[in-house]
Amino acid sequence: MCGIIGYLGPRKAVDVIIDSLKRLEYRGYDSAGIAIHNGKKISIIKRKGKISDLEEKIKENPLPGNLGIGHTRWATHGKPNDINAHPHKVGRIVLVHNGIIENYKRLKEKLTKEGIEFYSETDTEVITALINYYYKGNIIETLMKAIGELEGSLAIALITEESDNLLVGYRKDSPLILGVGDGEMFLASDMPALLPYTRRFIPLDDEELVVIEGKDYRIMREGKVINKKITVVNWDPISAEKGGFKHFMLKEIFEQPRAIGDTIRGMYSFEDRDFYVFKDNNNFDLTKLSNIRKIMLVACGTSYHACLTSKYWFESLARIEVETEIASEFRYRDLLNLDGTLAIFVSQSGETIDTLQAMRMAKKKRAITLGIVNVIGSTIAREADIVTYTHAGPEIGVASTKAFTSQLAVLFILTLYLSKIRNTLTVNEVETYYQELLKIPRIIENYIKQANREMEKLSNNFLDYQSFLYLGRNLMYPIALEGALKLKEISYIHAEGYPAGEMKHGPIALIDNRMPVVILAPTGKVYEKTKSNIEEVNSRDGISIIFTDDTNNELDDKGVYVFKVPTIVEPLKPFIYVIPLQLLAYHIANKKGLDVDQPRNLAKSVTVE
Ligand code: AGP
Repeated sequence: MCGIIGYLGPRKAVDVIIDSLKRLEYRGYDSAGIAIHNGKKISIIKRKGKISDLEEKIKENPLPGNLGIGHTRWATHGKPNDINAHPHKVGRIVLVHNGIIENYKRLKEKLTKEGIEFYSETDTEVITALINYYYKGNIIETLMKAIGELEGSLAIALITEESDNLLVGYRKDSPLILGVGDGEMFLASDMPALLPYTRRFIPLDDEELVVIEGKDYRIMREGKVINKKITVVNWDPISAEKGGFKHFMLKEIFEQPRAIGDTIRGMYSFEDRDFYVFKDNNNFDLTKLSNIRKIMLVACGTSYHACLTSKYWFESLARIEVETEIASEFRYRDLLNLDGTLAIFVSQSGETIDTLQAMRMAKKKRAITLGIVNVIGSTIAREADIVTYTHAGPEIGVASTKAFTSQLAVLFILTLYLSKIRNTLTVNEVETYYQELLKIPRIIENYIKQANREMEKLSNNFLDYQSFLYLGRNLMYPIALEGALKLKEISYIHAEGYPAGEMKHGPIALIDNRMPVVILAPTGKVYEKTKSNIEEVNSRDGISIIFTDDTNNELDDKGVYVFKVPTIVEPLKPFIYVIPLQLLAYHIANKKGLDVDQPRNLAKSVTVE
């Protein structure tokens, strides 16, 4: 989505803002702009294209000053062009915005009748004009009045012509974070943008306003000043850079051992023989979890695949009824009340609007809501009844990888936690499973270089194919879906994940000598059935690409390609089988010369519908 940066402090604002905007590029954008106050007036430079294009323009028109706002735009209203780019200026107000104003057309008509002229097609210009229309000098009063007329989502940062010492931010349904520096203050859509400057943040909650004047700030809600604690994150700037890898995505694939290790560390004490899954929660009565009768898992995209994987764990180990649902479908269902239901919302960004709105609906239906998110202080984290964080660190590549396996880790631990309080597993059984989980980072560490070599080589054979099938059964079905999503979203090759048992019900018609078919065939309870699916593909000249356990040699001559994956206990196989699929997608996309970290049409966090 759009990216916002604001700065007030002793440095050259243009340098801080451009540098920070570059760390928001992963959010996907089509134009960029900046506004700087030089003590006398505000200068704006904005244009369609990349930040590097903006920098060229700035070289021709230097922008001195210590106050400014910047923006990367992902078009929602109005096509990508210089006029529709942000910042927008109307009268004495200059503003950048992330979100969608649903009633902007009606407000535009009202303001046009008052003689105000518009130049862009954006809802953002309407916000700016409305604020300027009411502005008599008190920006707080003005904002409260204008915001009362706006319907929709907005995170804004604004400055005024009168003051080179005032920076204002506000948020509703779109993220905005205050960065607290040493004698300098920042606004940003996301924390990684500011890591080189500060690690001290205050995420704004919905309908909160922040007024920065000089070196001071105050946060307000409904016109009253409120106190909010500063969150200190330990993401050092380097971890948000590429660390020597060609793409963030490859770096993040290789980071998975550390991400999983950091996530599971400290969640269980063998000394106390107890879990500390919810250490970030201090005001929820966890005993309520003993009485839940059902679990609903709700998310989008890759996070949904993590939910689908955990369904098998909750059913087989915690022995509880489980339902999974795509968030954009869940929120429009006519659900009965959800008393006795634990509704789990999984989201890397913690800002995905469909998942957030689904959670708000579940709360109204009286579910206990649990957020599993990767971004500290994100909206889903703050609004859920309970929250558990993955500790994957900033995930910059649009294609989610380390967040996915970290989500699996939290969901598996949650399964063990519920199994313990529901007495469906003995403490010894819980500890045995947890011990197996603790081995996963090392197993991936020892395997991933081999997988990378194998998939890099394999990718050479598939750069010109138009379509792939990914097949898996039981726990491997969600991994088949995830492998297909990885391939399609970064290589633009159509790929479909399918339950292997469904082949006879349609997809088998697709099989011919131009159809690569990835088949996940670990040993275990559905292995024999999966072998028959391999035969179905081979007998129709399909290009079978088989992944099986390294202790199994039975399939060595049963596929066009056969790869061995470390053998681990059956419930935890998803952690390992997803690794080569992430790498295969990466290498195909990379060899096709595509923008792996920022695939076309995609954004890292879908905060508008
Ligand atoms: C995954 O590779 C995609 N980028 C996308 O499907 C993503 O998983 C989905 O948008 C959900 O995002 P979230 O986890 O931040 O809610």
